[in-house]
Amino acid sequence: MDTYILGIESSCDDTSAAVLGDRFLLSKEIASQKVHEQFGGVVPELASRAHQQNIIPVVEAAIRNANIDKKQLSAVAFTRGPGLPGSLMVGVSFAKSFAWALGIPLVDVDHMHAHIMSNFLRVPGENNAWPEFPFLCLIVSGGHTQIAIVRNPLEREIIGNTIDDAAGETFDKAAKIMGLPYPGGPVIDKLAQSGNADAFRFAKPRISDLNFSFSGLKTSILYFLRDELKKDENFIENNKADLCASVQKTIIGILAEKTEKAIKETGIKTLALAGGVAANSGLRTAMQQLADKHSLDLHIPKLSYTTDNAAMIAMAGYFRFQKGLFASLDAAPYATGAKV
Ligand code: KG4
Ligand code: ZN
Repeated sequence: MDTYILGIESSCDDTSAAVLGDRFLLSKEIASQKVHEQFGGVVPELASRAHQQNIIPVVEAAIRNANIDKKQLSAVAFTRGPGLPGSLMVGVSFAKSFAWALGIPLVDVDHMHAHIMSNFLRVPGENNAWPEFPFLCLIVSGGHTQIAIVRNPLEREIIGNTIDDAAGETFDKAAKIMGLPYPGGPVIDKLAQSGNADAFRFAKPRISDLNFSFSGLKTSILYFLRDELKKDENFIENNKADLCASVQKTIIGILAEKTEKAIKETGIKTLALAGGVAANSGLRTAMQQLADKHSLDLHIPKLSYTTDNAAMIAMAGYFRFQKGLFASLDAAPYATGAKV
């Protein structure tokens, strides 16, 4: 192999490192921070500290499991943003020091771009096809909800965005209102499987373009439950699965409707899914249904590549490295908006 890229991800509450050998994923390590569960959400200060504790062991394990020596690395790719400033700072500082000490290039990666690139990840021996350019990508995470036209491995045009909350955040907030643990997305997904998705109806936004809005849905869930709990204090407990299935169906409905609109408006025949919410079983099925209906070539990342991980950072970094797009040693993290 010619190129070994070390990827570093620390934008939120997962400390992750991965090694890509040429275009193949050789190792991926993730230290997930359990400390936030008791608070029902990520506590930024605690996240930074946990990254500080985890980063070196996680990088060491990724290099060891890739069966290479750190001297063989060609570049260090890192998440520059968007994310929590204190969390990003740990990964950025580590990546700079490591690249500087090894005398190799530093490659800055945008976290949302990297989520898209998770569709290109393969382990040695796998030969599943990459999505063909240009393709449409629905990117759904805890902090973002976007539809992008991906023109090549380096460029994307965001054609739809949320005007308030993100899809993942809506899952998490709905779960919190129902007294379910954080992160709520996977918990709702699991409980929804035994529930009736048509049991309850919640307000859907009316936005004519390709943008999303989820804040009205959140309020609708909150008020509905407040009213029902007045009549029956065990309402949530007695209807948990149906509530989860109905909330999930509503969120997926919003995502699928806009994705279908983008398919029709652009005429693009390749669709990809990315981001933590791409792990949702109902959303994966809904995307398959859209693909069948419109005869699309559909790409959905493996479950382990959907939520935050450094493999996708290394993959996005690989393409930037190929083009000589290096970051300087004074690169600073950014909290919002794409800068790379
Ligand atoms: O991409 P990600 O790991 O982090 C961000 O970049 O934000 O996404 C995390 C989000 C959380 O909101 C989490 O609840 C959601 O992804 N999520 C899910 C599922 N697994 C993770 N949402 C719905 N269903 C799931 N199975
Ligand atoms: Zn993410």
